[in-house]
Amino acid sequence: MCGIVGYVGKSPVVSTVLDSLRRLEYRGYDSAGIAVFNGHGIQVRKRTGKLKELAASLQHQPLEGRLAVGHTRWATHGEPTELNAHPHTDCRGELALVHNGIIENYAQLKASLLARGHRFRSQTDTEVIIHLVEEYAKRLPLPVAFRRTLQDLRGSYAVCLLAASDPKRLYGARCGSPLVVGLGRGETFLASDVPAVLARTRKVLYLNDQEAVEISAEGARVTTLEGKPVARKPSLVAWDVASAQKDGHAHFMLKEIHEQPATIEQTLTGRLGRAQITFDRRTNAFLKELSRAERLILIGCGTAYHAGLVGEYMLEEVAKIPVDVDVASEFRYRGPMLDRNTTVVAITQSGETADTLAGVKLAKEQGAKVLAICNVMGSSIARQADAVLYTHAGPEIAVASTKAYTSQLTALCLLTLSLGKLRGAIPAAAWRRYLAGLQEVPELVRRALRVEPAVKRAAQRYASARDFYYLGRRYNYPSALEGALKLKEICPLIHAEGYAAGEMKHGPISLIRRGWPVVFLATESPVYDKVASNIEEVRARKGECIVIASEGDRNIRRHADALIFVPRTEELFSPIVNAVPLQLFAYHVARANRCDIDQPPNLAKSVTVE
Ligand code: F6R
Repeated sequence: MCGIVGYVGKSPVVSTVLDSLRRLEYRGYDSAGIAVFNGHGIQVRKRTGKLKELAASLQHQPLEGRLAVGHTRWATHGEPTELNAHPHTDCRGELALVHNGIIENYAQLKASLLARGHRFRSQTDTEVIIHLVEEYAKRLPLPVAFRRTLQDLRGSYAVCLLAASDPKRLYGARCGSPLVVGLGRGETFLASDVPAVLARTRKVLYLNDQEAVEISAEGARVTTLEGKPVARKPSLVAWDVASAQKDGHAHFMLKEIHEQPATIEQTLTGRLGRAQITFDRRTNAFLKELSRAERLILIGCGTAYHAGLVGEYMLEEVAKIPVDVDVASEFRYRGPMLDRNTTVVAITQSGETADTLAGVKLAKEQGAKVLAICNVMGSSIARQADAVLYTHAGPEIAVASTKAYTSQLTALCLLTLSLGKLRGAIPAAAWRRYLAGLQEVPELVRRALRVEPAVKRAAQRYASARDFYYLGRRYNYPSALEGALKLKEICPLIHAEGYAAGEMKHGPISLIRRGWPVVFLATESPVYDKVASNIEEVRARKGECIVIASEGDRNIRRHADALIFVPRTEELFSPIVNAVPLQLFAYHVARANRCDIDQPPNLAKSVTVE
């Protein structure tokens, strides 16, 4: 969602902030703006649409200065207009602020500020923050006024403040929305996410909720909202700048799809041995305790939720642990029954998704233990969890999750196998077979990527269709849901739905007519024959079947209008391999439809509001 960048340093501030904002474009946005202190006062420029509109305006009429804050806005309160774009300024134009999150009590705050004579220009919730700072600054020093303001806010925020009266510093704070400090040589950044600063530094400070920070070119000072100093050591980010660039691919999504053999390997590295699975000492101890859990609840949103659904099949079937899976936004509001014997497994790429984070907090309040499967070190969920299985997939920039998903599935395989072993649920021969099978997965994914030409042909053939079904059974059921999500996410012209193939007859089949494309996942499994019958049911109604099947399956040919083969593997690992043609199919359909693949309209990468 919204991207924040604040910069203090010697480099030209406008181009530096724009460059960092570009690296946050993946978060999704609909307008952008910048405020610059030019030595005399604050100048603001905002534009609707993409950053290139803002950049063009800045080229035409440049702004120059010593420090700046920039923002990409994903509209929540008020349409994506220039007036609603950030930064917002106070009545006198001496303070400028950018914000990510939602201020839930903004209406009350606005009413009281209006009564005190403040003039509002936008429809945003954000604008109350800057007027509140202005109000408190009438009687308090600026840093105190800033922190006092934050204490009045309910909801979530990451903010960055620029004040004409204090031209050497920027002020930031977070509560429920991410904000990191990038510590460079003679320059300091505030940013929503690490990729924004990677080109300049890998040294970062992660802020906790309810913490404020003052940054200057020399460094950063973290405090509580009451102003008490907080000692915080910088962390060194393992990612480098190349990992956040396209590397010659047309889109980040395509690059990330092709990275999967390597990213899966990274998830396995140091954990999967020839005869055993191990983690670091702390995680090993946690898993030992977890193996005695009576129940696991897997939570996540979107793609991460689909990974959870696959996890349910794995953990129940192989590790013999009862599992529930919940969409995090439902879990947090359904009054779940939790206790010490329940462990909640929060699955999340970003570690910042608001609903998943709320689910984690709820679980902890009720005495349950929390394990996070997460990609971003230092993220909110990683820090709240009792233990973390990092997926090590590197930065995922495209809005549509691909490599993070297959790394989540890989981490779930590791979790399933180690819990199954600890619980004595896996016979020795099966254990050896599973370990050998998992070792092979990166290579199988590499081979699955070779089907791209066939997938592309199928995608081009069906690109003009406007409705798709995706069907599968058992492990292929969540894969079907995920395949449909990928397509509808990046190709907003298309309606795509995933179903359990057995559910077809209970309603959706009524829609099938001549030419309606149905993607079937028909790889090797105990329910293969049943899936083959479902394919026939669609064909009998003149639907078009695009079938993903296991290499060497001769029988399937007569059932398929378009056929895509993937390498054979244990059914347990098949969702990882089968994800590849589904991702590529969505990608090529979207490309044929000229969609904005990396930044689909209305979507945000990191959903930090409810
Ligand atoms: C789909 C997608 C989203 C995310 C969801 C959860 O491609 O990217 O559905 O999976 O917003 O995000 P994380 O995993 O960051 O919690």
